[in-house]
Amino acid sequence: MEYVKVARSGQVPEGVVRRFFVGEVEIAVARFGGEVFASANHCTHLACLLSAGKVTEDGLLCSCHGSVFDFATGEPLSPPATEPITVYPVREEDGEILVGGVTPP
Ligand code: FES
Repeated sequence: MEYVKVARSGQVPEGVVRRFFVGEVEIAVARFGGEVFASANHCTHLACLLSAGKVTEDGLLCSCHGSVFDFATGEPLSPPATEPITVYPVREEDGEILVGGVTPP
């Protein structure tokens, strides 16, 4: 699997979610408990930007209607979303965040 650099570690501090692009693909990158997670940036409910949401202890919160998605699996933990968001594997090395498996739509 190909990993591409998306950010410097310092760009995603603890408790923060930010938007980055891998080519044309928009992803949300969040840090919780020191670990970095990457996912699609559009909520599976009505496509709000998850990068405009919040990092919570339960998962990534979509601020539009309150669905929370598991950081690791992307599964929706609360309604109204019923479909998981795509999650991507992440490596953090030498102060850089690398995301794998992102392919153009
Ligand atoms: S768009 Fe995310 S919960 Fe509705």
